[in-house]
Amino acid sequence: MRFVLSLVFLVPVIFRVVLCVADEDPIIRHGDIFHPTLGRGGMVVSQDAIASGVGADILSRGGNAVDAAVATGFALAVTLPQAGNLGGGGFMMLYLAEDDRTLAIDYREMAPALAHRDLFLDSAGNVDREKSRFGLLATGVPGTVAGLVHVQEKYGSLPLKEVMQPAIRLAEKGIPVSYALAFSLTRASGRLRQYPASQAYFFRGDGSSLQAGDIWRQKDLAKTLRRIADKGAAGFYQGKTADLIVAAMAAGGGLISHQDLENYRAVERQPVRGTYRGYDILSMPPPSSGGVHLVQMLNILEGWQLAPLEHNSAAYLHRLAETMRRAYADRSQYLGDPDFYPVPLARLTDKGYAGSLRQAIDLDRASNSEDIRPGVQLEEESPQTTHFAVWDDAGNVVSNTYTLNFSYGNGQAVAGAGFLLNNEMDDFSAKPGVPNAYGLVGDEANAIAAGKRPLSSMTPAIVFRDGRPVLVTGSSGGSRIITAVLQVILNYVDFGMNAAEATAAPRVHHQWLPDVLFLEKGVSRDTRDILDAMGHQLDTRAGAISRTQTITRDDGLFQGVTDYRWPGGAAVSPR
Ligand code: GLY
Repeated sequence: MRFVLSLVFLVPVIFRVVLCVADEDPIIRHGDIFHPTLGRGGMVVSQDAIASGVGADILSRGGNAVDAAVATGFALAVTLPQAGNLGGGGFMMLYLAEDDRTLAIDYREMAPALAHRDLFLDSAGNVDREKSRFGLLATGVPGTVAGLVHVQEKYGSLPLKEVMQPAIRLAEKGIPVSYALAFSLTRASGRLRQYPASQAYFFRGDGSSLQAGDIWRQKDLAKTLRRIADKGAAGFYQGKTADLIVAAMAAGGGLISHQDLENYRAVERQPVRGTYRGYDILSMPPPSSGGVHLVQMLNILEGWQLAPLEHNSAAYLHRLAETMRRAYADRSQYLGDPDFYPVPLARLTDKGYAGSLRQAIDLDRASNSEDIRPGVQLEEESPQTTHFAVWDDAGNVVSNTYTLNFSYGNGQAVAGAGFLLNNEMDDFSAKPGVPNAYGLVGDEANAIAAGKRPLSSMTPAIVFRDGRPVLVTGSSGGSRIITAVLQVILNYVDFGMNAAEATAAPRVHHQWLPDVLFLEKGVSRDTRDILDAMGHQLDTRAGAISRTQTITRDDGLFQGVTDYRWPGGAAVSPR
């Protein structure tokens, strides 16, 4: 079994989460957590230990994977304010075991009705980055509440009220601030302090920064959550919460209206499907680029035997880099919201097309992206998105990625409602060829239009073998999400790694522009020298590449692994 293979350097570290709150709360005190976790009966993995515990508790109480995922999603909106959210959007892949059916739920943010193509251009026709990233114009109509409520009502087994109860209690009673949260809040404090509502919600009463060990209560957020629990999506898109959002827009020059909120709907879409060495790969279709390019890259790579090259050898990384370069070049041209632009999905995921791209790759020399289009620079913004996954004992699987875009979105909380707004409008192409915060360029396909959803890189994925799920994964990391998910799958399929090894192995990333191969630490000097001699422009200063959350199932045993690259996450199985 993969689980017991070579855990030599990854002996599970046992750590105890002892969370002190005013009264005994079984939800918050979920006991021992093993990292990585092996378990039977199901598994929940997320970037926050408390939220994973909430999901596992729902499974223990007989809830299915959807119940647990919705509970985890709302809990993350309380415990992980930098990415867990009510004011953002995302994508969910859902495998329903009884029906043997996989669904893709699109709850991406939407451009308000008053948005238009040149929204972020100044009078000289240049992109105003401040506007596209930090003002209220940067905010798309939030989709998270519509998405979570939609799946709960249609595919959950417990009442919405019951699965939202833990999140409400966490917001009301407070959560202990972890070192990771205190660090993250402090790093974002300059931006958050600019806005009175954010200053009120994300700092101590005396205005100083929250410290590890503080109990952090979010009363307004609790009230907002209660309105959703009582009224479903209408508790957010209509009534008091909607009034508060529209009032914030009026005060700060935003565009979102009552009508925009009322019109918002989550959409069920056909997953993108691919095959790779006998495995079936199902992931998110547009308006995410994740699934399309995951399948495209796997199609290119399938034409080479990778295992004999050995993991992270120069020959392997060269093939990866050239594959990534070509997929991201296509992304810039062809990807956008399919309701507005005819994305050539069949062509992009066609094995014949992948073969022609593969044949053009020189196995001895790096190509030069600069020959195709001028390079652009990545900016220093922490890409903050978060992924969580749930697998229940009946075999239902949820793979969910959601985000505010930047860490803490645009930094602006809705006064009276207690949650942060996204800055997802920056994921549109504000002007052809001008990069967004992730250095990604786009064109007509991803131009801004009223009611359109901005292109994403989020890649919630489920891998099947013989018709049964064997691995569920996804990641945060902006433009680096797709390549991180790709490498987890390659590590598992080609190199026989278990979930822990597949997560820990050093990653690389290339996105066509800039023409740079980003390498995590751990790729050897010898390998880097060979890649350099082949003509790759290397960057080893990029730090950790993405944060994956992964579960595998083998012989009925689950292995859950939260990424080691950032503290605070946990994989938890039901009691
Ligand atoms: N906001 C990052 C993404 O959706 O790809």
